[in-house]
Amino acid sequence: MDKQVAKLDFYDPSFRPVWADVDLDAVRANVRALTEVSAPAALMAVVKADGYGHGAVPVARAALEAGASWLGVALVEEGADLRADGIDAPVLVLSEPPPDAAPAVVALGLTPVVYTPAGIEALAKAVAHADGAAPLPVHLKVDTGMHRVGCKVDDAHALAESIAARDELRLEGVLTHLAVADEPDNPYTAQQLDRFEGVLAALRHAGVAFDMVHAANSAGLLVFGDRARFDLVRCGIAVYGVPPAPDLAGRVPLRPAMALKARVSHVKTLPAGARLSYGLRYTMPHQGNVATVPVGYADGVPRALSAHGGEVIVRGRRHPIAGTVTMDQFMVDVGDGRVEVGDEVVLLGRGGDAEVTADEWAERLGTINYEIVCSIGRRVPRRYR
Ligand SMILES: Cc1ncc(COP(=O)(O)O)c(C=O)c1O
Repeated sequence: MDKQVAKLDFYDPSFRPVWADVDLDAVRANVRALTEVSAPAALMAVVKADGYGHGAVPVARAALEAGASWLGVALVEEGADLRADGIDAPVLVLSEPPPDAAPAVVALGLTPVVYTPAGIEALAKAVAHADGAAPLPVHLKVDTGMHRVGCKVDDAHALAESIAARDELRLEGVLTHLAVADEPDNPYTAQQLDRFEGVLAALRHAGVAFDMVHAANSAGLLVFGDRARFDLVRCGIAVYGVPPAPDLAGRVPLRPAMALKARVSHVKTLPAGARLSYGLRYTMPHQGNVATVPVGYADGVPRALSAHGGEVIVRGRRHPIAGTVTMDQFMVDVGDGRVEVGDEVVLLGRGGDAEVTADEWAERLGTINYEIVCSIGRRVPRRYR
């Protein structure tokens, strides 16, 4: 037996028939559609969290092919993965790297976001220590109301001056992040943009030079594109074909890039009244066929889905998840429908005329589609098209 099959990265659907299809054509089409509405602003594909669960490197390559010119990551380590795969496009680390990570940022040629004197100092030192390193471009993040990371509006000028004063650094960009861009009627976004524009005007007035300005995430582009586009838009969820909020679907034609699938591993017929799975929480309403599906909450199928009406598609028809989703398996009540070991089960995606979306799971579970796609676990091999 090939020794590699023992490794997580080599989980093999012929051993356990569970996989996620990732359609890179859909990623490319989504990026093209987004660049059409973002132009003349450039497009950053945000590929943090392993490309929102889709695989950072393949998505990054597809996005760059389709017209994205920047990549965005949360962690220096994620930037390192892209560089290790030979991707040399500009990569923005979306939050200020911890000071200890500064040498790695410089060595990898990543572009850091900054917003504290300590972060700026650490990066300048790292450049000074790296023989012959050119000035490192940095982007200054201003907190205009999200209150997660970023400098205070009142501190932006002093920090920008401190960057400009260092030969090791170059202020390439100024950015902010929007808290409620997915709520078209919420006036808070306009207030954030007012504050941001105030900062930009003050910096320009003081003669501080910078090349680019950015603010919009996917929702910022789709809802507030006219005002929030600036020079660059940072799109994550929309790149994956998933709308940033259910009622924003359709603003730009997007195709979901991921489908989660499995094959039936076991079938039995149970009488009316039989109760299933941990806690015996599902009772068979009629005699029917029950299929076991070898994927569970350890793979990102939420345990609570069964209690909230979750359904999967078998032979083109929806059927209820029957009983508690367990760590590695769950059951489906197929009723009097035919089902055999080896039948394909669509958990997310299309089967026949039916479709289950990440939005549907999110709505059932009181969360957002982002959490659904990011949670599809490492045990699920991704198959790229
Ligand atoms: C700073 C920043 N910009 C852009 C994005 C992309 O957001 P979205 O996936 O909503 O497009 C994120 C993701 O959370 C982010 O943190």
